[in-house]
Amino acid sequence: MSQTLLWALGLALLAVAKADNPISYYIESQDFPFDEIPEDTISRNDQRVYRLPTSVVPVEYDIHINLFFAERTEKPFSYEGFETIIVEAKEEVNEIVLHANVDRIQSISVFDSTGRPLRLQRFNPFHTEKVYHFLKINLAETLAVGAKYTLHINYEGTMNVGPMKRGIWRGWYVDSNNVERIYATTHFQPYNARQAFPCWDEPYFKAIFKLRLSSPSGYTGTFSNTAIEQTVPLPNNRVRVDFAPTPKMSSYLVTFLVSESFQVIAQDTSFDPPIRIIGRSNTNGLADHALDLAVKMTKHFDSYFEIPYSSLSPNLLNDHISSPDWASAGTENWGMVSYRELYLILSEEETLMSVEHYAATLVSHELAHKWFGNLITCHWWSNTWINEGYASYFGYIATHEMFPKYEFPDHFNTRYLQTSLSFDSGISTVPLNHDVNTPAQVTGHFGTISYSKAAAFLRMTANIMSPETFRKSCKLFLQSNAYSPTDPDDLLKSMLEAIEEDNSLADYGSFSFADYYNIWVNEPGYPILNVTVNHTTGVISLSQERFFLSSSAAPTGQIYPIPITFSTKTNPSFSILKPSHIMTGATLTINKAAVEEWVIFNNMQHGHYRVNYDSKTWSLIAEALLEEPSPIHILNRAQIVDDVFALMRSNRMTHNEGFKILKFLAKETSIHIWSPAISGFTWLRNRLRHLPAKQAEFDAFLLSQMEHAINELGYEPKPNETPTITMARQDILQFACTLGHEKCNQDSWERFVNLRDNGVPINARIRRNVYMTAMRKGNQRDFEYLLNRFRSSNYANDQLEMLRGMGASTDPELLTRYLALTLQKAVRTHDKLNSFNYALLGNNENVKTVVMFVKHNIDQIRTAYVEDSPANPVHSALSNIAAYLDEDGLDDYEQWLRTTQYGIPQFNSAISGINSARNNIAWGTANADVILAAARGSAAAAVASITLLICMALLSTFV
Ligand SMILES: *[C@@H]1O[C@H](CO)[C@@H](O)[C@H](O)[C@H]1NC(C)=O
Ligand SMILES: *[C@@H]1O[C@H](CO)[C@@H](O)[C@H](O)[C@H]1NC(C)=O
Ligand SMILES: [Zn+2]
Repeated sequence: MSQTLLWALGLALLAVAKADNPISYYIESQDFPFDEIPEDTISRNDQRVYRLPTSVVPVEYDIHINLFFAERTEKPFSYEGFETIIVEAKEEVNEIVLHANVDRIQSISVFDSTGRPLRLQRFNPFHTEKVYHFLKINLAETLAVGAKYTLHINYEGTMNVGPMKRGIWRGWYVDSNNVERIYATTHFQPYNARQAFPCWDEPYFKAIFKLRLSSPSGYTGTFSNTAIEQTVPLPNNRVRVDFAPTPKMSSYLVTFLVSESFQVIAQDTSFDPPIRIIGRSNTNGLADHALDLAVKMTKHFDSYFEIPYSSLSPNLLNDHISSPDWASAGTENWGMVSYRELYLILSEEETLMSVEHYAATLVSHELAHKWFGNLITCHWWSNTWINEGYASYFGYIATHEMFPKYEFPDHFNTRYLQTSLSFDSGISTVPLNHDVNTPAQVTGHFGTISYSKAAAFLRMTANIMSPETFRKSCKLFLQSNAYSPTDPDDLLKSMLEAIEEDNSLADYGSFSFADYYNIWVNEPGYPILNVTVNHTTGVISLSQERFFLSSSAAPTGQIYPIPITFSTKTNPSFSILKPSHIMTGATLTINKAAVEEWVIFNNMQHGHYRVNYDSKTWSLIAEALLEEPSPIHILNRAQIVDDVFALMRSNRMTHNEGFKILKFLAKETSIHIWSPAISGFTWLRNRLRHLPAKQAEFDAFLLSQMEHAINELGYEPKPNETPTITMARQDILQFACTLGHEKCNQDSWERFVNLRDNGVPINARIRRNVYMTAMRKGNQRDFEYLLNRFRSSNYANDQLEMLRGMGASTDPELLTRYLALTLQKAVRTHDKLNSFNYALLGNNENVKTVVMFVKHNIDQIRTAYVEDSPANPVHSALSNIAAYLDEDGLDDYEQWLRTTQYGIPQFNSAISGINSARNNIAWGTANADVILAAARGSAAAAVASITLLICMALLSTFV
């Protein structure tokens, strides 16, 4: 039953994060208590039928696409394709199977290398198999092994509306003359090239692509992977642009954009090819920061891999498209990376620090793909972790070399490691290498495991072999597999070669690196390390088992090779990341000085595992955290917070014990420490939602814990503070304002009034809590004020923050207007689900209005949100609601679903959402008093008195 739970959880999280680079979904969705989510009934057995045979392979494509816009009144926004494919027969077969998902195939002919047409079967020359997107060409004669043939295929198709369904689609923007313009572009990753042209649409089939695009002659902003070879005027006021051939590459990396006025908005011509940022004309001059990111990261990767970008192919460009619509955050098409405009148009005056921070890792992630993903490509999507793991790893580790101010290595843990530890602790999580076949499975594998676990695994591995050997293994891997598909065995081979050359495992005796690699790559889950210290003798006994969040999960007996690092009070060696031991068995004994002192394992939380200690050691740690925390590395303080919440959830630690350790939070301001704390507390707090008085008391406790951080950080950025501090303020104030922190709300409101009445700009870095607070407190006039600003803003990030703000409106009428806005074009389709979620997150009571709105507009929601896009946004919307409802609300919602919505595609996931909400309520009811007692016990030290607590509790009930 729960076989596919985590798989499905992946899909749910992917609501805001699909193939290529996920939007930082852990930030967006951490407030959603997804424990159990829609089940998907797909079994993976025998689904290899989705895969193409390798009997005939493509060598070179020449693709001519005629694009039509509104001017073709009988069939607007459509295209015709004329395609020539040179293929090679690898087996003696009499059929050619490739992918196609176009509207209609008009004609197909096949020629041998002398130009002689091959005979096709008379009554069935070709046919399509829709489920598999197969196009089968049925020959009346047999192909000769090793011989080349030429296919001609004529076909036609229709552009998708908006980015969500990918393929060739059209988006919109308003130009500098305030005229709405339509542009056409493509998003093929992972399996949508077949919608633009019939092809071998699996990463394995690398070939050369030549593209010719024709469109009305007013469409002068035309871009693709490679340089323009020629522009040819055509009759009927049309023009054709021919692009130079690409290097040998996978079909999903082909792309183009055709527009009337997209242009170069920033460029550095000192490079060959020049590095260019391309966007709508209204953003001209606003991409200097994005350009700086692209320039410095290109330079860095050129020298790190020692394979310069300019040597990859003579024709490839180094273009970065800022697209107003984009289904993911960015996509690494070779030579022309596309990004959601949100991440390329950045300005200190208009952009949140978290978005600026994410943009830096995103650009770097996409550039790293030029080597890991484009030059070498995973053989099949089962191994997508190689592409995404390296890109994610370099997106942090390499970016730090060029942009140290962002302190990326410190943020790696909350972004990747802890996300992975949380996701990978379910019963049905999947290994890095994980068999996928159907399109839905392929989409699903672009998730936490392939990004976060893979990146964390690579970082852990680099620590074992040393960063220099790791770099050598990258070079070997890229050199020996360039322009080819690769698999995890190729990667292991390169790693072993580099290790051997450098003799870098000499310290670890008989340790088998291949075993380490194969277990971590092919087995699901990860271990928890039990640490028992004999404080008299200094003997430390270690044991391990697979960590499950569910305390009822059956043990598996799986042993994971664990790189061991640790620090003690007398020897605080937190910055030493090379393991002192590698634990390859179930237990290990090591020695330290025979003194009573704290010990902490997993330096800087670089290893992908959790740690639990005997109670004596825990109390030594807790005492140090409270009394003398500074010798303990911030990332290990953060690790302890993250581990303690997981230990409590898995019943390895009581809430009393856990909250005692967490007491030290009251003295901390670091975002690294507060981030896992906010996630952990939110998880608990969400389970008290149906008990308002108890939730209010818990909120008061949380506010008391945050008081110090709020005071230290203040309400406004200080000159020259680090981005990390700015982000800490952003997250902590958002949480505090939402919990009803009085001063936070008052300060935010004053800033809003000052903007509204006096035009005093709100510092961009704190807009989130200001907009949210203003809309909670404001009236119709304030709502309309923000709505007008939203409509006239030229900055995607500010617009998004305003949406989030309006989602926090408390007045049901205004909230309904906000929700109605999500059905309109003004809220771009890639923002619709997030905007819906903002309404739920805004205030506890909002769910009632949301349910009313859903009941009255379900059909419009299903259409506007694009229910049949791979991200399943409507599944997520309908199942998210449940978590906010109380028991009566759940009954009512279920009743409505069962009587009026039975049979809609989202029905089962919505019902699962309801079941899981009921479980959460039951859990909350059963544990509320224990949690509050634990909170009171731990707060006693931090806050003056329980009376104060209760006063605060009462206050916050009325916010
Ligand atoms: C510590 O080790 C000593 C010597 O083996 C033993 O006598 C003692 O009981 C151990 N202490 C604990 C708490 O296990
Ligand atoms: C680790 O510790 C937990 C409780 O603290 C215990 O239930 C579990 O059996 C231990 N596992 C191993 C492998 O020692
Ligand atoms: Zn990626």
